[in-house]
Amino acid sequence: MISGLSSCTPDEKQENEVVIGFSQLGNESTWRERNTASIKEAAKKANYKLLFANGQQKQSKQIKDIRSFIASRVDVIVLSPIVETGWENVLTEARDAGIPVILNDRDIQIEDTSLYQTLVGTDSTAQGRKAGDFLKKKFEGTSEQIQIVEITGTPGSSSTENRSLGFRDSLNMEKRFEIVESQNADYMLSKGKQAMEKLYQQKQLTNVDVIFSHNDDMTLGIVEFLETTSIKPGKDVTIVSVDAQQEAIHLLKAGKINCTVECNPNTGPKLMSTITHLLNGGKLEPCYYLQEQVFSEFSNLSAIPERGY
Ligand code: AHR
Repeated sequence: MISGLSSCTPDEKQENEVVIGFSQLGNESTWRERNTASIKEAAKKANYKLLFANGQQKQSKQIKDIRSFIASRVDVIVLSPIVETGWENVLTEARDAGIPVILNDRDIQIEDTSLYQTLVGTDSTAQGRKAGDFLKKKFEGTSEQIQIVEITGTPGSSSTENRSLGFRDSLNMEKRFEIVESQNADYMLSKGKQAMEKLYQQKQLTNVDVIFSHNDDMTLGIVEFLETTSIKPGKDVTIVSVDAQQEAIHLLKAGKINCTVECNPNTGPKLMSTITHLLNGGKLEPCYYLQEQVFSEFSNLSAIPERGY
């Protein structure tokens, strides 16, 4: 052997070692950071080797990352897809290489659903519906028009599309609820703040009763901005959010938001048990949704345990 070269590099796959390639879509939010940590922790506990790739909010980067997992001959690919469409080619390449793909968190739209094994994630349609249901309870018995501004997450992502659908579905039968404006802020605190500032400067918040924000990070930005104005968040305007992260629970307890619908980021343990089941030849359901609840001004706020994200 040439001196200085070893016959085995430290990264080389050990015999019987299960290697998972995890394509995370980015780190746009506190929720996403917890989701990544949950998967890393669970893989370690299950004794699986995890190769992590940060998609940096770009589908093109995620596709590149998946191709490099295929080239490395990983055993399983876990994909958190930034958007719903455009995955056919790369998932076909994974199938041709005999590598199963499991979706994490978000869903995709694809004709051949056999290109992935299952989804371990959260029910975004139900989350949107729960946000609408909270408003119906909050404004029960009032007959006036309720004007709503919606601040959405990443366009084309299943979480955004389905939360919007579920929300509208819940409010549909009641004509008094009107979505007067819908703006995108990519699930980011800074963009949530900017969106609010823009609406305020354009005088579009004057008659608004409700803000439905698709995640807590954007909500933090929204509240931060409103506090620089005379509009009192949670009082002059009702704020409904999604995720239920710790800082949103603090805002809820302080009366600065009115509701946050849980989106559970702890997919790691279920993902690992699903991978084990799959590798042992077990059959999988088309999807596995985690348990989620709603925290609102109607909840017993002192009983909410630490959220961990
Ligand atoms: O797909 C889940 C959503 O993505 C979470 O609600 C949000 O915080 C995240 O960025």
